[in-house]
Amino acid sequence: MCGIVGYLGTRNAVDVIMSGLHRLEYRGYDSAGIAVVANGDGQPNRLDWVKSLGKLAELDRKLDGANLAGALGIGHTRWATHGTPSEANSHPHFDTSGRIAVVHNGIIENFQELREMLETQGFLFRSQTDTETLAHLIRMYYDGEAAGDLAEAVRGALRLVQGAYAIGVVCADHPDLLIAARQGSPLVVGIGEDETFIASDVPALLRFTRDVVYLENGQICCISRDGRTFETLDGQTAEPAVRHIDWDDAAAEKEGFPHFMLKEIHQQPDVLRNVLQGRLAPDTGDVVLADLALAPDQLKACQNIVIVACGTAWHAGLVGKYLLERFAKIPVEVEVSSEYRYREPLARPNTLVIAVSQSGETADTLEAIRIAKQQGAQVMGVVNVVGSSIDRESDGVLYTHAGPEIGVASTKAYTSQLAAFALFTIYLARLRNVLSADEGREMVAHLRMLPDKIQQCLDQAGIIEQCSRNFKYIVAHSALYLGRTFNYPSALEGALKLKEISYIHAEGYAAGEMKHGPIALVTDMVPAICIAVKGDVYEKMISNIQEIRARQGVVLAIATEGDIKVAQYSDHVIYVPECFEPFSPIVVAIPIQLFAYYIATNRGCDVDQPRNLAKSVTVE
Ligand code: G6P
Repeated sequence: MCGIVGYLGTRNAVDVIMSGLHRLEYRGYDSAGIAVVANGDGQPNRLDWVKSLGKLAELDRKLDGANLAGALGIGHTRWATHGTPSEANSHPHFDTSGRIAVVHNGIIENFQELREMLETQGFLFRSQTDTETLAHLIRMYYDGEAAGDLAEAVRGALRLVQGAYAIGVVCADHPDLLIAARQGSPLVVGIGEDETFIASDVPALLRFTRDVVYLENGQICCISRDGRTFETLDGQTAEPAVRHIDWDDAAAEKEGFPHFMLKEIHQQPDVLRNVLQGRLAPDTGDVVLADLALAPDQLKACQNIVIVACGTAWHAGLVGKYLLERFAKIPVEVEVSSEYRYREPLARPNTLVIAVSQSGETADTLEAIRIAKQQGAQVMGVVNVVGSSIDRESDGVLYTHAGPEIGVASTKAYTSQLAAFALFTIYLARLRNVLSADEGREMVAHLRMLPDKIQQCLDQAGIIEQCSRNFKYIVAHSALYLGRTFNYPSALEGALKLKEISYIHAEGYAAGEMKHGPIALVTDMVPAICIAVKGDVYEKMISNIQEIRARQGVVLAIATEGDIKVAQYSDHVIYVPECFEPFSPIVVAIPIQLFAYYIATNRGCDVDQPRNLAKSVTVE
């Protein structure tokens, strides 16, 4: 949700900032802007800026020939919260004199009252945003109590602010000073030689440095030519931990694929290998989670599990519930984080709350774990981004090792989360003595086969593409996704993938619920994608498929290789390799993702940046 980048160093800040913003465009892309402190050539320095409506390519075009240059600057790519996408509402925002500039990610909740207070004092607003309030507040302190001390002015302004923010601030009077601060929304400080960067997320920095500091909540970082100081808002010195990031720069590039989404779909065999690597003990049927940092005794004492997550991660949590209840024999509830946090949930000290989040920054999930902790629950994160807020605030973390996911629609993060749940299930089941060594060995063996099975699915990409070209799929206004038990969440995920990138309305349903409503939707223009892989509920799915066909419905079945029966009742079949049913959602995810991808590209949609969406939802 909005990407910010800032730079102070020896290069042209414009190049660094634009390169970083391109890496953060997944966070928002309705408008963008940049400001640099330009040398006044004998006159006082000034802020030069360019803003544009639309994607970053627009800003690139405007920058061509704009002659913007300077060694200090800030930039922003926006996902609108307050005020429609427009040039006036795009960041950076300036104080009335145009000498102080601010970029912001988050929401200032009390901006209306602050704005009224500032307007009565004569400050002139040019936008409808909450962010502009900050620029004027900083000016108010700068000219008043802070007496020209920019850091002190920022501190003063932030003390008045309620809500979430990550900000970058520059001032034309201070050509060697970049201020960053954070409360709620993520911000990393990149450390280079004679240069410092700030960004909402690590991929923006990988081209320049892999040494970063994750700013903590309530911290402010003052970056000058002499280095950086980290302090709390009330002036206490903070000791930052510098982390070295393993991801290389190529991880943030498309590497020959037309879209990040397709690249990330194709990375899944390797991602699965990464998640499983070093964690399987095939001889003993155990799983080794050396990095989990939750004491086995504590885990053993847990009597129930609550999984909180949003979007695709919530679907992974649903599969987690089916796995944990079946094999670890522990009651599990799964909740959308935004519901959990507001409904006064009852976590107990012996509740384990599992927060699933690719980014580790989703605001609702973060707040959900804070509530759970207040109630004494243990919190375990299933997180991809090391160093993220959920990583740092959880008692223990199972990392999903998927590498940076840049496509807005989650793909490899999802399968890595499913694999993490499979691992944790075996681990907990063995710990609770409810899974024998033989059963453990069998499950571990099934897990080890998954990367190859995923590859086999990917090898059929051509067939899936061909199938997606069928006009009934391309022109559909609506689609149904049906599955049962372990693949009920697959149906939800399939529907989400299709709707978010192709804009075709789609509903995922537990196939057993079909007769309670969705069957009324079935026509030959509403395709039904039925997940009918071999397993306990296979025959039930075949009956559901027949019921759809009997009503002239169009059926695309996802079935197990060699299954001829399903082909008799379906219009099209996409086959996946035979698989242990509880792990089949990991394999089924591949055709579901590819199908949505090809439908969307056939319809001319921008799959990496679907309309209205953003990847990292850092506002509630
Ligand atoms: C957004 C993304 C989804 C993601 C969800 C949760 O909606 O578009 O792909 O599943 O947020 O994000 P998280 O980072 O917490 O997994």
